[in-house]
Amino acid sequence: MATDFTLNIPDTLRALVIGDPIGQSLSPVIHTHWMEACDIHGQYGKLAVNSDELQAFVTASRTAGLVGYNVTVPHKTAILPFLDKVAPLARQMGAVNTVKVGPDGGLTGFNTDAIGLITHLKKSAPAYPKDKPALVIGAGGAARAAVMGLLGEQVPFVMLVNRTRAKADVIAAELGRDRIAVADWQDRNDCVSAAGVIINTTTLGMTGFPDLDLDLASAGKDTVVYDIVYKPLETALLRAAKSRGLQTVDGLGMLVYQAAAAFKIWFGEEVAFDPELRTKLEGQL
Ligand code: ATR
Repeated sequence: MATDFTLNIPDTLRALVIGDPIGQSLSPVIHTHWMEACDIHGQYGKLAVNSDELQAFVTASRTAGLVGYNVTVPHKTAILPFLDKVAPLARQMGAVNTVKVGPDGGLTGFNTDAIGLITHLKKSAPAYPKDKPALVIGAGGAARAAVMGLLGEQVPFVMLVNRTRAKADVIAAELGRDRIAVADWQDRNDCVSAAGVIINTTTLGMTGFPDLDLDLASAGKDTVVYDIVYKPLETALLRAAKSRGLQTVDGLGMLVYQAAAAFKIWFGEEVAFDPELRTKLEGQL
């Protein structure tokens, strides 16, 4: 149900993130860092928008002087019908995390999660074994981004495992059964030996959640283990991988590189995950 929504934003606000809840979002730290570095005036803010307010927020955003905004839980899918255009990748993912506001108030939706995830993988583990299948654990929005990103990188195929198998089957049906092999949750350890990259996209391992129980004993020496959880930065999965001498990738970079892609869409500037930004973010975790 749409409600009245008055968007009281200062003239100096250039971009923001919307969601519900929004208090924990690190997007303001990231974008503010780059806006300062690029000498872009104005602020990046955050605004709690609930589901009843979403449509009215979108309408108000057309004339608020913003370059755009990020969209997070629970609006990534719900926002699609309110936009004028949706980029093909976001359409295929069924989710938008970045909106660009055109000079005429036109709204275009993008999804930068897949590019963020893959950019971080390629920067952190440039020699990851591309010739082997990848193992993706989970079947939420982040799993979809991982699968799309990996298929775009031409890995031979993706093994997809989720506690609720039916959700993994839906992803396989939508993104290509010929390149996605769904396995049962209880068989996840059997997928480890073939995997060049293993990506945990579930909430398991996050502070307050149980750890992901995955036996890495059969992993190849060159296997890269990537956990998109960034709180804590070193999850039990990554610790187990390190103890076996495997290369690991933590989740902070995905967050940063999906933001970098949004920054490019809004401001046309290429930005990097510099050490100063890492220090700022680690200070917030
Ligand atoms: P996002 O869209 O951010 O990826 P999500 O849609 O909430 O997040 O997905 C969370 C993922 O964590 C799902 O794959 C979920 O599995 P189910 O589809 O079976 O719910 C997974 N997950 C959460 N808690 C889990 C648990 N205790 N054991 C196994 N998987 C779990």
